[in-house]
Amino acid sequence: MLEKSDLADNAVECLHNEQYDRPYNLQNLNYRNLLFSGGRERESLGGEWRFTLDLHDTGLRQKWFLLQQRDAETRRDPYDYDPFAGQTIPVPSCWQMIKDKWFYFEGSAWYTREIDYIERDEDERVFLRVGAANYDCKVFLNHRFIGNHYGGSTPFCAELTPQLQPGNNILMLCVNNNRTTDRLPLRNNDWFNYGGIYREIDLIRTPASYIRDLFVYLVPDGGYNRIAVRIAVEGPATEVNFTLTELGISQSLPVVEGVAEATFCVQPVLWSPEQPKLYQVMASLGRDWVSDRVGFRQIEVVGTDIRLNGRSLYLRGVNCHEDDLLLGKMASEADIRRRFRDAKALNCNYLRLAHYPHHEMAARIADEVGLLLWEEIPNYWAIDFNNPATQRDAHNQLMELIMRDRNRASVIIWSVGNENADTDERLHFMTTLVKAARQADPSRLISAACLVNHAKMKIEDRLADHLDIIGLNEYYGWYEENFEDLIALGENSSPTKPVVITETGAEGVLGEHAPQSGPFSEHYMAEVYRKQTAYLPKLGYVRGFTPWLLYDYRSERRQNPYQQGFNCKGLIAADKHTRKAAFYILRDFYQQLKQAESLSD
Ligand code: GCU
Repeated sequence: MLEKSDLADNAVECLHNEQYDRPYNLQNLNYRNLLFSGGRERESLGGEWRFTLDLHDTGLRQKWFLLQQRDAETRRDPYDYDPFAGQTIPVPSCWQMIKDKWFYFEGSAWYTREIDYIERDEDERVFLRVGAANYDCKVFLNHRFIGNHYGGSTPFCAELTPQLQPGNNILMLCVNNNRTTDRLPLRNNDWFNYGGIYREIDLIRTPASYIRDLFVYLVPDGGYNRIAVRIAVEGPATEVNFTLTELGISQSLPVVEGVAEATFCVQPVLWSPEQPKLYQVMASLGRDWVSDRVGFRQIEVVGTDIRLNGRSLYLRGVNCHEDDLLLGKMASEADIRRRFRDAKALNCNYLRLAHYPHHEMAARIADEVGLLLWEEIPNYWAIDFNNPATQRDAHNQLMELIMRDRNRASVIIWSVGNENADTDERLHFMTTLVKAARQADPSRLISAACLVNHAKMKIEDRLADHLDIIGLNEYYGWYEENFEDLIALGENSSPTKPVVITETGAEGVLGEHAPQSGPFSEHYMAEVYRKQTAYLPKLGYVRGFTPWLLYDYRSERRQNPYQQGFNCKGLIAADKHTRKAAFYILRDFYQQLKQAESLSD
């Protein structure tokens, strides 16, 4: 065992110290050091990494990150793992999808690879950027702990410069996907707990002074003629340049306490799903420069109406998880484009990307193809709202999501939660998040998927007073089997702001073993859609409909003979090809809404 090795001071630590992981939980890799990456060169670290699962955290106990590279024959001591030899795993990936024996593994896993570093510029700074790792990712470079990140679906950066050496460097990541009770999501949810480095991992180089963030948006004042720019810089800087050539903007802006801000009076072509116009923007600071493609639009609420660029908008939507039969939670461009094609085939103009930040490509592609998005942090079900650790995690994930996607015109709603019980603790926790979101981004609406107040049979939730849109999950015809209660709910409720049905639906199973009638039959699912789409348009305050969901997807909790580990409420089966009867009911319903809209224009 390593305990007898020349790391002998490690002996007690290895076997007797159950606080072994405390030194590696700084959560110092967070939104504060997230680097704007638009337009930057990314040196990919994707490919085969050496890999092992580590169920007992032996790696942290024995400090595998201290192990030096040696030939097996020359090692003097017994050792339990060799980071420089053995099996590998493709990065990015979900380890569950690589080997059957890894499918249900929850715990730590170690990733190791060499980096051959060649300095390009004397003062350059080098950052590691991880698109996402689920859930806790600890970073070690050349045997030194750099920091860790909490959050399974948002990007983070780690500066490597101080530890980086010319030539060969050893980079090790320890990723842990254990479910716990002190963060988002909690240990209990309704999607599969994939693990690993499942989005892109890159190196990014910058000069000593660089642009840390770029935020460009249309000032939501109803004039549609003012663009706001906010540029944050790191390192000594007196001015930064901003250009938007197509609108004749090229301006040097003074930097005050690390920030440059300006507003420009222009007449942009407004972005909309029908006309997804994007503009090339660029910011430069000395040798550093970043760019982005930004659409300018205004989304607002007026009474119970939602308006895009001043026009009344009904959100014809569908929910979608990040889940794939072959890829798990890893998203590909092809997978995202297929998802959007299927949504458009339903006549959707929007999707709710449930229940966590999806791959950053999703919003970029939605910007291009003209779809609106609801994006959400996994503040899901019974969160420990009183726990400061949970509050810190929620705030960080929300800030990382907003900083990542706030230049995306397609994103119109930030959601701070899903189906959380209406308690005092939850109200304080969620209103704190709402305030943080509004402060970080004045150009979007804030919502959450709330529950029906069954006691009063009303759409009523104290959080609604702090939201722009009331998201409502109602399953009349499925979980609430008496569909007529939806009518009572509708008649009892008089919300003063728009309601978007953020979930409804039913399971519908296909195939030779599927029931032909009753719950879990395709027919029963279709009937629920028929009733929901027949009634909801009668409620003037309902300004959006988002059935649950586009595709069947993996969920460990779903184990009845029909489900076999899948939630089968998809309008399309898990093959992402076979459409169910309800697909056509929803498609035709949305077609009618579209036609009614065009007639009213
Ligand atoms: C809930 C929840 C979803 C879940 C769905 C279901 O509303 O928000 O995450 O999958 O219902 O029960 O299928």
